[in-house]
Amino acid sequence: MKWTNEARYQPYEKWGNDYLRKLESKVKEAKWRLDFHIQPKTGLLNDPNGFTFFNNQWHLFYQFFPFGPVHGLKSWYHIVSDDLIHWHPEGIAIKPDTYYDSHGVYSGSALPIGDKLFLAYTGNMRDETWQRGSYQMGAWMDQESNITKIEKPLINQIPKGITEHFRDPQVIKYNKHYLMFIGAQTTNKQGEVLVYQSDNLLDWKINGSLDFNQESMGYMIECPNMVFFDKQPVLIFCPQGLDKKVTDYQNIYPNFYIVGENYDHERCKINHVQDLMLLDEGFDLYATQAFTAPDGRCLSIGWIGLPEMEYPTFKDGWAHCLSLVKELKLINGELYQNPVTEMKALRKENKKVVINDKVITLEGTENSYELQIRVPSNSIGHMEFYANKKRDHFLCLEFDTGKGKLTLDRSRTFNPINLEYGIERTIELKKNEELYLTIFVDQSVCEIFINNGQKVMTTTYYPEQDQNNVYLEGDKHYLVEYYPLRKTTEQ
Ligand code: FRU
Repeated sequence: MKWTNEARYQPYEKWGNDYLRKLESKVKEAKWRLDFHIQPKTGLLNDPNGFTFFNNQWHLFYQFFPFGPVHGLKSWYHIVSDDLIHWHPEGIAIKPDTYYDSHGVYSGSALPIGDKLFLAYTGNMRDETWQRGSYQMGAWMDQESNITKIEKPLINQIPKGITEHFRDPQVIKYNKHYLMFIGAQTTNKQGEVLVYQSDNLLDWKINGSLDFNQESMGYMIECPNMVFFDKQPVLIFCPQGLDKKVTDYQNIYPNFYIVGENYDHERCKINHVQDLMLLDEGFDLYATQAFTAPDGRCLSIGWIGLPEMEYPTFKDGWAHCLSLVKELKLINGELYQNPVTEMKALRKENKKVVINDKVITLEGTENSYELQIRVPSNSIGHMEFYANKKRDHFLCLEFDTGKGKLTLDRSRTFNPINLEYGIERTIELKKNEELYLTIFVDQSVCEIFINNGQKVMTTTYYPEQDQNNVYLEGDKHYLVEYYPLRKTTEQ
């Protein structure tokens, strides 16, 4: 299949059921499919959209191109859950079927209003000369999940000084108003976040450009998300083309966050902003979205995958997944991220193994488990996940708690990926302290939560069939709890 623009953007109806059925059976047979992460049934998934709690259920949408593992004509796919771990597929919810979203229903957010859910997204349009148009669009979803698009764009005009890269609206309630944060690029090729305001969700006027940093934020900001912890604002965002002198990062595009002391609504300003921090220090996390749930928790979810990268599942007709749902806490100016406690329900308790030893071996796993590991201070060693018995292929996590170093290395693999962006990621920890790790391994994805979620490393890894062992060794005793996990995926 040649993925020309014509193929990527042809209307959904043109593909025919036969094509999709064949693709479905191909993906069913594919290796590296996941057991408890949200993944597309076929084709490509990218950003999470509209994550919310509505009508007594968790609702989530994601960017979806059903017909192949490429960025083509996007829609919003809808899934619902009672517990944040089992997700039920509801199908394609918003299709690219109007003038304004003819070339893609792009990312956005959701906000419950009375007995309806308000959805805001970007309509991506291309004219005959392939010139892009960007419209901020709205829709209403009722309690039966029927969605009605609001015909006219919420924001029709790209403001002066902004290019057609103007997308990913996040709508929140702020005091008596609604605010919309939108990722944008200026005509001087600078990344910005624009703030709009409305009292009725239909008429929006611009407040200005969000003032949160004196440095240039690259040439474009995607997926801005503001969340508040009491009065303290946290902005999560994805700058593209950010100068590494501003803050170092290794992925093609990073997912960052900043913490401020308060938000000055009149001046569109986040006051007393701390340094930029990487939301994830691994290889593959992007486009995180967060919101405060009615139970008071701030919950987030991200896309495990990066734009413009190659992944080995492409040849099997599918691509990418979402991260676990995480609970965010703001502690001493840092975001702590942990998988929601609901995840414990996936543990097969009767298969739990606790080991306290210098050498730890877990052979014949199904590559679907959670590990809790305590590494004492002043200890050097390493762990191998997805290891074959010969132990020449594995995902490696090296630690030196004396020096305060942790390195994730994915070089030892039969299926190397994106080598130009490096084979390892290292983080600095406090020296001479105990290290506490919670690790979720799911077939081809691994999420590592460090010191109660103070840092997170997310990575993909593509093992061969015999790569299903875990080895840990070092110079001290390590306390390990191992829980094989149940499968949840039905999408
Ligand atoms: C980020 C992004 C968004 C856009 C969407 C399109 O991954 O590029 O800016 O809305 O993906 O799928």
